[in-house]
Amino acid sequence: MVEKYMSPSLATYWKFLREFLRHPSTIGAIAPSSTALARLIVSEIKPVSTSVIVEYGPGTGIFTAEILAKMRPGCRFIAIEKNLRMADIFKLRFPQVRLFLDSVENLPLILADEGISSVDYIISGLPWASFDSALQKKLMDVTVAALRPGGEFLTFAYIHSLILPAGRRFRNLLQGYFPKIEHSSIVWRNLPPAFVYRCIK
Ligand SMILES: C[S@@+](CC[C@H](N)C(=O)[O-])C[C@H]1O[C@@H](n2cnc3c(N)ncnc32)[C@H](O)[C@@H]1O
Repeated sequence: MVEKYMSPSLATYWKFLREFLRHPSTIGAIAPSSTALARLIVSEIKPVSTSVIVEYGPGTGIFTAEILAKMRPGCRFIAIEKNLRMADIFKLRFPQVRLFLDSVENLPLILADEGISSVDYIISGLPWASFDSALQKKLMDVTVAALRPGGEFLTFAYIHSLILPAGRRFRNLLQGYFPKIEHSSIVWRNLPPAFVYRCIK
């Protein structure tokens, strides 16, 4: 049991890098996020008032371990990962988590199948800045529609994305969808350094 919550092994890092080389735009990073970034993004969750959490693109599950540690009994948690090899690694680490091998685009169908009408938190590991505008909008439409009023969308961005057009496009997109957006300080212990966007519906 303890093993499942440990940081990814060296072999997992290698598999992650290999998936990046195969699918650079959907994986979007050469290594999993750090535990420091995972703790920061998950620290925004208020477990007492939370009944549904959805994680996008969990990859090898670095955020998942923190979400599970924070969740209270009775809270529902589902994860959506479209890469088969990532999903295989994930299922070995977290057999107890309801994982959908699917694209986030299908979130409405997944939630309907699960009988979930609204979501408290969506934690995203997706590489938004690698997506074109049409895909970003499609994914953001389903995200905002799924959140309850006051629900939160938590995602991260790399610091260099602030000066790159794709990263600025993503920030502008968030501003068009959410009335309130906060960003964290920079997590230097991440490759590359990153920060968290907290977007409140
Ligand atoms: C940068 S990795 C993040 C993995 C992990 N959350 C982390 O922070 O280390 C991005 C993950 O999102 C997944 N992904 C990309 N597009 C997706 C989509 N449309 N639906 C579901 N998962 C997607 C990729 O397969 C990959 O596992």
